[in-house]
Amino acid sequence: MTQALDFIFKRRSIRKFTDQPISEEDITLLLQAGMAAPTAMNARPWEFVVVTDEEIIQQLRNSLVFGKHNPAAVIAVCGNTLVSKAKVSGRFWVQDCSAATENILLAATALGLGSVWVGVYPVAIFVRRVSEVLDLPRNVTPLGLIYLGYPAEEKEPRTQYDVRKVHWQKYGNAERAVDIPKE
Ligand SMILES: Cc1cc2nc3c(=O)[nH]c(=O)nc-3n(C[C@H](O)[C@H](O)[C@H](O)COP(=O)(O)O)c2cc1C
Repeated sequence: MTQALDFIFKRRSIRKFTDQPISEEDITLLLQAGMAAPTAMNARPWEFVVVTDEEIIQQLRNSLVFGKHNPAAVIAVCGNTLVSKAKVSGRFWVQDCSAATENILLAATALGLGSVWVGVYPVAIFVRRVSEVLDLPRNVTPLGLIYLGYPAEEKEPRTQYDVRKVHWQKYGNAERAVDIPKE
């Protein structure tokens, strides 16, 4: 349990990677972690495109203003709207795919890999460019790209805990207003 918390704090956006490739076994583990995430009504509207081909990675980098880093592999996390439109739960595809994304980032950290979430949806031009590069059908929307590789930079584990972001019982209460019964 402590280990899980360690990885949560250790996960940082890594944007510099070595050339070392990631094994297929590790990629599979990352995908298994992604597909262990919760989804609304268990709809699992996700699809994943794994890219290790340098040329395609280069095309993705060219497509994204904020994605110019040099990953060894990219996982595009996408929402399939055919799955999602079939159910009310489908309207939650962004949350579902975000949960999968975070799971992959944490699993990458646990495997000693660096990673960064590169946002695509809802920026229309990014969605269009990434869809073109990956040949996505119309009903599959890229939520984001996960850039992965062995880290060539180090970052300190941290939280950005900020007590001002926390409200107790109702918005605006900075302190826990309810008395806790003493043992
Ligand atoms: C939805 C989303 C989109 C992001 N898009 C990018 C991006 O396009 N390029 C990038 O380098 N980092 C991107 N990031 C990473 C954030 O910049 C990063 O998480 C934030 O600065 C906090 O740093 P940390 O991840 O090290 O805790 C994105 C993160 C999220 C959650």
